[in-house]
Amino acid sequence: MKLLPVISLLALTSATSALDNGLMRTPPMGWMSWERFRCNIDCENDPKNCISENLFRDMADRLAEDGWKEMGYDHVMIDDCWSSMLRDKDGRLQPDPQRFPGGIAKLARYLHDRGLKLGIYGDLGTHTCGGYPGTTLDKIDTDAQTFASWGVDFLKLDGCYSNEEEQQKGYPLMSKALNATGRPIGYSCSWPAYRGGLPPSVNYTLLGEICNLWRNYDDIQDSWDSVQDITDWFFDNQEILQPEAAPGRWNDPDMLIIGNFGLSVDQSRSQMALWAIMAAPLIMSNNLRTLSSEARAILQNGAAIAINQDPMGVQGRRLLQERSQIEVYWRPLSQSASALVFLSRRQDMPYRYHTSLAKLNYTAGSYEAYDVFTGKTLSGLSAATEFTVSINPSGVVMWYWVSFTLETPAWLYHSRLGCTRK
Ligand code: GLA
Repeated sequence: MKLLPVISLLALTSATSALDNGLMRTPPMGWMSWERFRCNIDCENDPKNCISENLFRDMADRLAEDGWKEMGYDHVMIDDCWSSMLRDKDGRLQPDPQRFPGGIAKLARYLHDRGLKLGIYGDLGTHTCGGYPGTTLDKIDTDAQTFASWGVDFLKLDGCYSNEEEQQKGYPLMSKALNATGRPIGYSCSWPAYRGGLPPSVNYTLLGEICNLWRNYDDIQDSWDSVQDITDWFFDNQEILQPEAAPGRWNDPDMLIIGNFGLSVDQSRSQMALWAIMAAPLIMSNNLRTLSSEARAILQNGAAIAINQDPMGVQGRRLLQERSQIEVYWRPLSQSASALVFLSRRQDMPYRYHTSLAKLNYTAGSYEAYDVFTGKTLSGLSAATEFTVSINPSGVVMWYWVSFTLETPAWLYHSRLGCTRK
């Protein structure tokens, strides 16, 4: 172990127990409808963009044909507004018959045939946030069984229209009900987001035992302000949140909005870098049919993805907030590698930030770095070597570091540069 003792401590905390369904040992990846397509059900006037089986099939085609699946983006997740306003005569949820004429089971088969997985949305409460039928406590078993019978692989269980007591009962009950179906179904719990996201109202030990991931905080919107607000909340509370993440159990700062309307190219890199540091689920919500080449390159950046998906599964931390409005983030990775992100909150011009690994608490040794967004490498650095990074306003510089002190063979170093995921 080359870095400070703090790292060994962090590695230890990742031994926290996780939901025992064997799923999501690295943060889930894929695509979800909500942020980009919301509750647009106007298929008559907006057939390409409304919540319908065509939208999910289209996105599945894109994931399968445009190189996404190979990079790890393998889930297509239906969010709210998919269901009929009424349950069927046996009390089961059913999809809207006009918008999902083939039914969910057929859509699941379409995805499975392409090596993809299907996620669906439910809400513990009387209604979903969009006003569709919810899952009250008496419906938990039925809904779990229905989802399993359709071949669903993932459930996002929202928490609109339920109270604290119902959530306390319902989230663990759904976990049991999903397990009882015998089908492996990843389980995302929005519970903490409805209880302020912090202890004592939120019990992260319990959440880790019953859910694979959980939404801790507010919904992301299509803006840099929203990305910054979420980032600040997660890192301001890192003492509490960071130790809770581990293989099979992840904090979820919400969807990637890269490729939409609110972020510049620099800001898009910033979201990708910060989500990689946070070990966040990489769930895009964008229009994969019309993505720009810049957005695609950022979302398919092999090194950023490899950092996000590091098998050790230790969430990163904010190390510094400088008066210059430069912030430094760090994540320890397996094989004594690490990632560093330099983020500029400035609004003037590229800022030249001077530092060294020693100043960032790295121990003595010999280091090499790979610049995640430019592909350049730096070698022969010692912890004491002073260096300068030029960081664009609201942009990042992101480095993947390898320590050579253990005499890592060159082939191992090269095979670890993330670009090998393809
Ligand atoms: C809540 C959730 C969102 C989305 C909407 C759907 O706001 O946090 O992610 O699922 O409900 O109505």
